[in-house]
Amino acid sequence: MVLLTSGTVSAIVTSTVVCVSTFLLFLSGYALQQKSLRDIQHALREPIYSQTPSVRSHLYAGGSGDAQQYLADSENARSSRPTNVAYLQLLTRPNPSNICSAILFYKKLAENNSAAHERLFVYPRDWDMVTFPSDEVNTALALLRAASSKYGVWLVPIDTGILHSKGYPLTDARLLRLAQIQFMPYDSVLYLRTPGYVLDVERLDQLLFSRPLPLEFDRSRPESYQNEAWIPLPLLANKNPSLPPAYLITVNPKPERVEARTHIPNVTIRGFGDLVASPSYKNPAGQGPAYAYFDVDDDGHVRWENNPYYGQWRKEQYEVCEGLDLESIDDW
Ligand SMILES: *[C@@H]1O[C@H](CO)[C@@H](O)[C@H](O)[C@H]1NC(C)=O
Ligand SMILES: *[C@@H]1O[C@H](CO)[C@@H](O)[C@H](O)[C@H]1NC(C)=O
Repeated sequence: MVLLTSGTVSAIVTSTVVCVSTFLLFLSGYALQQKSLRDIQHALREPIYSQTPSVRSHLYAGGSGDAQQYLADSENARSSRPTNVAYLQLLTRPNPSNICSAILFYKKLAENNSAAHERLFVYPRDWDMVTFPSDEVNTALALLRAASSKYGVWLVPIDTGILHSKGYPLTDARLLRLAQIQFMPYDSVLYLRTPGYVLDVERLDQLLFSRPLPLEFDRSRPESYQNEAWIPLPLLANKNPSLPPAYLITVNPKPERVEARTHIPNVTIRGFGDLVASPSYKNPAGQGPAYAYFDVDDDGHVRWENNPYYGQWRKEQYEVCEGLDLESIDDW
């Protein structure tokens, strides 16, 4: 047995305290370091997440400030009330008139508070990499970029290199096929053909919100596979160059593949399937479409015959694209 003097005891106690403190210090330092490492990793991922529209729209959905309610809501959001839907327009060629038509569409959605908070514009990525020989095109694209922040539009550039390398011409259908993987964060995306004119945002929203959307295939939810309002129409991108005037796209990851479902509205349902129609359409109550898609002739000019909205559309196009000559068809 070794006798300890009080000095030795106090030395032991002191060094024990020092050891323990050092160890605790080390531990807390380690924890801190791990935490900041996570923060850094999180911050690195942040740009991707903050660009993921679902996160943004979840904020919208929780806008009432009641997080509990939102959590409860999100439990059945997928089955009943989609909160995360987007309008989509798409162009394969930078035709200034068509670009300005899309800008006008987004402006009206924003100004009239569309219930679908998300807006997407899909285009070939090449547009971001070249200066076009036409000033009209460059100006229209600059206006589109400005409009994207003003009206909350996500610009979605798509790499179309794979088509060039295979010698396939770029078509609306092929561009949509290449783009559809980008729609994963949404419950569904509703494409509307450009050029066109939205006459009534509130009625147009009914297309997305008045009837259950098919959404993801789910055996327990009959609307997902037997939906009176939405009729399946596969995207045969190599067979049909053009897209239906209104096209609902739903993309979900499944084990080992991505499920992409495409539907068109059932046009026989009045007040629903006829919300998107040609300009001359009138329902039996004398009501026109909520969104009129315009016919374009072989030269790329919008037909004004039988189009009662042509004049108003042109006038408002000039308001969003001041100084552009929209009658000339400059596109590359
Ligand atoms: C936007 O709202 C105003 C005011 O309610 C209405 O007069 C106008 O027709 C609406 N426009 C569209 C495109 O929905
Ligand atoms: C389209 O709607 C009509 C009228 O409601 C309905 O009778 C018909 O079955 C629907 N079509 C499909 C394919 O569901």
